[in-house]
Amino acid sequence: MPTPSVCVVGLGYIGLPTAVVMARAGLRVVGVDVNPDAVRAVNCAVPHIVEPDLEPALREAVESGRLLARPSPVEADAYFICVPTPFRASGDIPSPDLSYVFSAGRSLAPLLRDGAVVVLESTSPVGTTERLAKALSEAAPGVSFHAAYCPERVLPGRILVELVENDRIVGGLTPEAAEAAAAIYRMFVRGGIHLTDARTAEMAKLVENSYRDVNIAFANELSMICEREGIDVWELIALANRHPRVNILQPGCGVGGHCIAVDPWFLVDAHPDLARLIHSARRVNDNKPEWVVAQVLRRVSQIRQTGKEPLVACLGLAFKPDIDDFRESPALRIHRTLVAQGLHVVAVEPYADEAAPPDARLVTLEQAASEADLLVALVAHTPFRRAELPADRLMDFCGIARKP
Ligand SMILES: NC(=O)c1ccc[n+]([C@@H]2O[C@H](COP(=O)([O-])OP(=O)(O)OC[C@H]3O[C@@H](n4cnc5c(N)ncnc54)[C@H](O)[C@@H]3O)[C@@H](O)[C@H]2O)c1
Repeated sequence: MPTPSVCVVGLGYIGLPTAVVMARAGLRVVGVDVNPDAVRAVNCAVPHIVEPDLEPALREAVESGRLLARPSPVEADAYFICVPTPFRASGDIPSPDLSYVFSAGRSLAPLLRDGAVVVLESTSPVGTTERLAKALSEAAPGVSFHAAYCPERVLPGRILVELVENDRIVGGLTPEAAEAAAAIYRMFVRGGIHLTDARTAEMAKLVENSYRDVNIAFANELSMICEREGIDVWELIALANRHPRVNILQPGCGVGGHCIAVDPWFLVDAHPDLARLIHSARRVNDNKPEWVVAQVLRRVSQIRQTGKEPLVACLGLAFKPDIDDFRESPALRIHRTLVAQGLHVVAVEPYADEAAPPDARLVTLEQAASEADLLVALVAHTPFRRAELPADRLMDFCGIARKP
């Protein structure tokens, strides 16, 4: 089979590394993004996201001539859609916003030719690939193309490795579509490739993240019960996990990011009468930041009783350790709530850049440790875990004080 040409639509955390890995495997890749800054940066071989090892890999891909970026799709043998699928926070249950997926579909519909492969990678509610294929068929009548869904399961910080090594689930609208999409993944994936139908593949992604969310909610609930009981939750979990069939996850200040805090809602939105455990877990994790704020305010009022207005330092604002991603970050929410309460707040965020987060008064860890009356650990970034911080001023909501 001649080397296929590929169009990756959406050059964010998923699309850009995917385009780079495909180009490195020898595919001819055009990356597409509606954000002109992203297009410019990619063509200059400068990553506009932070991901280990991405910069040299991108440079190699661009310099080899196998990857270039454009503001709109070009005709290709295969299209991979990697655009955002956020939710709309309306009413009690947020609903998925699929406008980016359908807008991406509209942009490539005029280019579709017989035999083309269209793969949706964006996390999507069950049935989205069918709906997308229907919209494409209406926009490109008579064209016979293959539509498939392949969820992304990479861990930020290890994306370039996991894109290649993770197993992939490839769900086709037809078995031929699954096979056609899998043939392209086999060119750059070393993990197993498992074929199924599109609905099962869509569901698999939602279930994986709901599983994580429910288990984190269990740990978060335990942390609140333990606080009331005067028990160290970190020690408790370490001890309970000595049981051969128990593996409790670690609590934190909430659940954030683009995936675990979002995807379970797609199931709850579609099945509010059945997805009750998933819904409850979402609520537990969503409410954890409020509980953290209440704990901090209690300590602040104790300090105020001594006649002092305390300086509070939030350690970490990203949505999880060792990344620069602030989307749906519970730590950022806690920081903003403390500021809105009129507290004197600074933040330490080793991964902050000029763009995000714009509203924090950033200080170094050393400044915070010497000047703050309260160190509120929200994200277990490596420099925080390595530091010796004063236990009497530390409120540890993410386990940094527990050295491995
Ligand atoms: N980030 C992760 O770790 C991760 C992991 C697994 C799955 N996912 C899923 O992958 C999808 C993409 O996530 P992401 O983190 O890469 O998002 P992102 O916001 O980092 O990137 C999306 C990119 O798509 C571009 N875009 C939007 N509409 C477009 C259009 N019509 N045409 C071309 N470009 C367009 C945006 O400008 C942006 O650069 C989401 O569904 C997400 O849930 C993400």
